[in-house]
Amino acid sequence: MEHDACALAAISDGGKKVVAVNGEKVLLLRKGEDVWAVDARCPHMKLPLSTGKWDGKSIKCRFHGACYSVADGSRTKAPWLLASAGSDTLPTYSVTIRDGRILVGVADGEVARAS
Ligand code: FES
Repeated sequence: MEHDACALAAISDGGKKVVAVNGEKVLLLRKGEDVWAVDARCPHMKLPLSTGKWDGKSIKCRFHGACYSVADGSRTKAPWLLASAGSDTLPTYSVTIRDGRILVGVADGEVARAS
């Protein structure tokens, strides 16, 4: 089910924004006219990803340095400490841009189950 997250214009090119989608926090990342939606919490220790470095392809968690592809949520850089904690994959969600609005595909309870 698609949920209206916010206006495309609310995120600058190269920017990111945390929104509430279906009662859960989702991190939106924009590059040009493309937008990705991922869980706002790092899979390692559930700390916020919103303060991480966004390079247009991946997000780097500022706490322990893990990097995740926003295309499929795969971990592209794995500090040794991550081997024993957390998940390898960042949950991602479908995005549709319609009439200047960002719609995020999150089923009821999907974010909660992914954590
Ligand atoms: S909480 Fe993100 S890498 Fe540890």
